[in-house]
Amino acid sequence: MRKSALIGMLAAMAVPIVGSSACAPEATTAIDVNALAEGSYPAPAGNELTIGAAAAATGRYFGAAIDVNALAEGPYRALAGNELTAVTPENAMKWGEVEPQRGVFDWRPADELVGFAKAHGQKIRGHTLVWHGQLPSWFVDGNFAPNEVKALMLAHVSTEVGRFKGSIYAWDVVNEPLADNGGWRDNIFLKAMGPDYVSLALNAAHKADPGAKLYVNEYGVETSGPKMEALYDLVASLKRDGVPIDGVGLQCHLVSGAAPGDLPDVMRRFASLGVDVAVTELDLRIRSPATERDLQTQAADYARVVSACRMTKRCVGATAWGITDGHSWIPGFFQGYGAALPFDEGYRPKPAVAAILKAFAAPGP
Ligand code: G3I
Repeated sequence: MRKSALIGMLAAMAVPIVGSSACAPEATTAIDVNALAEGSYPAPAGNELTIGAAAAATGRYFGAAIDVNALAEGPYRALAGNELTAVTPENAMKWGEVEPQRGVFDWRPADELVGFAKAHGQKIRGHTLVWHGQLPSWFVDGNFAPNEVKALMLAHVSTEVGRFKGSIYAWDVVNEPLADNGGWRDNIFLKAMGPDYVSLALNAAHKADPGAKLYVNEYGVETSGPKMEALYDLVASLKRDGVPIDGVGLQCHLVSGAAPGDLPDVMRRFASLGVDVAVTELDLRIRSPATERDLQTQAADYARVVSACRMTKRCVGATAWGITDGHSWIPGFFQGYGAALPFDEGYRPKPAVAAILKAFAAPGP
């Protein structure tokens, strides 16, 4: 469906089109087209439907992981400010980034993203507090006793959540606690505290900011299997024990053309536990070089994932793990793959964008 026809349809549904004062608070700041580099993000003509607005019309958000360094680039800043109603710091709030030396904090990148999000009326997903990745070396190499690891983890959670109290919509409190076989991932926290580290972290986050929604975030759980069942059992036990957990993040780092067909069932199963569900790190990688056919396949899979969220009442939104192929983790981590995001290196919308808009426009809960 052409974007203009889709816009007409949404207009008929009395859905405010972005750019009108009715629906776009700071989210659509006026774009200084002169600041946009050549071949950059085309400034909306003022009547373009953004992905964020299409999601908001269903009561959901659409976000992306933000590389704070890239906010210095005009087109990136314009795209992020205009298309999104939520942002996630790709790296800026990770422990190794905020406390590179014990007791010495660097909040500048995180503060910059918080300021950017507030200026654009965007939700902020805090990412991530307790994870085996990007930990500060002083912590990893400190040979701390178990009780010291526990105290340091709790202090980190309390310090960071407390610092951003009132600004964060949702925290990925615990990230990737499971191994691919469904067992516990063997990380420094498990070694020190056993599985209880998960509930300890959630309780500390809740105490530091009772207003933030608290998530456990995982990959490889978007389809039935031992890892998904293990996450289901973990969340069920946390809920049974009255541990503060509000949502499950399904990362959705997927191969284009292989998006799982049972994602709607998986979302419904987690929602049946009484928690929200969110797509938190969506990207659909393509083996390079991506052909036009590959991009059409990718668009169909973006639609499949967004439709699964659209059709699940408690799916609160979707976040892509980046928004332009020019700033994506994929090429550096998956040799020979790329083109995983909705906008290309020139900030132009790929077929995925129209597919996402159409998926959000479908009737649903
Ligand atoms: O900041 C340093 C810089 O000073 C240095 O010059 C440069 C070269 O060594 O490295 C920079 O750090 C890099 C960091 O990204 C910031 O760019 C790290 O090497 C690099 O490993 C790190 O990659 C991040 C990756 O997590 C680490 O596992 C990716 O950007 C980030 O997209 C990715 O995100 C994770 C989520 O947080 C959790 N889910 C999986 C997802 C993909 O791994």
